[in-house]
Amino acid sequence: MVELHAPILEWYEANARDLPWRHADASPWGVLVSEIMLQQTPVVRVLPIWHEWMERWPTPKALAAEQPGEAVRHWGRLGYPRRALRLHACAKAITEEHGGEVPADHATLLTLPGIGEYTAAAVASFAYGGRHAVLDTNVRRVLARVVRAEEYPPTATSAAERKLAESLLPALGAARWGVAVMELGALVCTARAPRCADCPVSAQCAWRLSGKPPGTPPKGQTYAGTDRQCRGRLLAVLRDAHGPVPKAALDAVWDDAVQRERALDGLVTDGLAEALDDGTYRLPHA
Ligand code: ADE
Repeated sequence: MVELHAPILEWYEANARDLPWRHADASPWGVLVSEIMLQQTPVVRVLPIWHEWMERWPTPKALAAEQPGEAVRHWGRLGYPRRALRLHACAKAITEEHGGEVPADHATLLTLPGIGEYTAAAVASFAYGGRHAVLDTNVRRVLARVVRAEEYPPTATSAAERKLAESLLPALGAARWGVAVMELGALVCTARAPRCADCPVSAQCAWRLSGKPPGTPPKGQTYAGTDRQCRGRLLAVLRDAHGPVPKAALDAVWDDAVQRERALDGLVTDGLAEALDDGTYRLPHA
């Protein structure tokens, strides 16, 4: 295979965004929080919330001392708010079982609540310099195109993708390589309108060289009118209330009663809201 490392690393050096969780002084906790927030959420939306969290809860211990509802409250409008509960649970486990230090070891990271293969690899690599294949959607798309001549990667990460990514890991500097490929996917080799003219490896890209055969685009997530939107509205009421709210306050923000009740039940089932005996609702308390 033609050498990919040098051109991509050089491109990264010149074009990387200056993101705070990539700074040398970012703590492993900061990296972990960023990786959870960045799942399914664009960088520009994550930045203000990440800064707020780092000021409010600079360590896992600080977050672990709070009610889970506070994590949900300060999740704001990032979406997929179960991630806030998972981070809270993670902070507790790190505090209680790991002396308050985010583990460096991939296998240990995987034992934490809410940490899957991707996040374990990202934290072990980006926070601690470990040598792991970090397969987020951007990396998977770049490798699918450059090496496999496919416009889009498969829906779920396959063993073949993992093997390929591992085979490309440099002996030294794997973390920088991982973030460089990720950045190339985010800025140039984008899902819908790749900018091949700006790509440092376009001359070697199997997909471009084979005439860019179209693949099946990954499904976009619809939002308007969905249960997810309804849940977001209900949760916003609880977040802004700073105390239990009457059911009528929730009823007021969504017209379709069937959908509203289903969404509210979902929030309670997921632990994002608590139904109190007097018929009011609030963010979760331990
Ligand atoms: N830098 C490190 N991890 C990242 C991510 N998941 N998204 C964007 N930039 C990142």
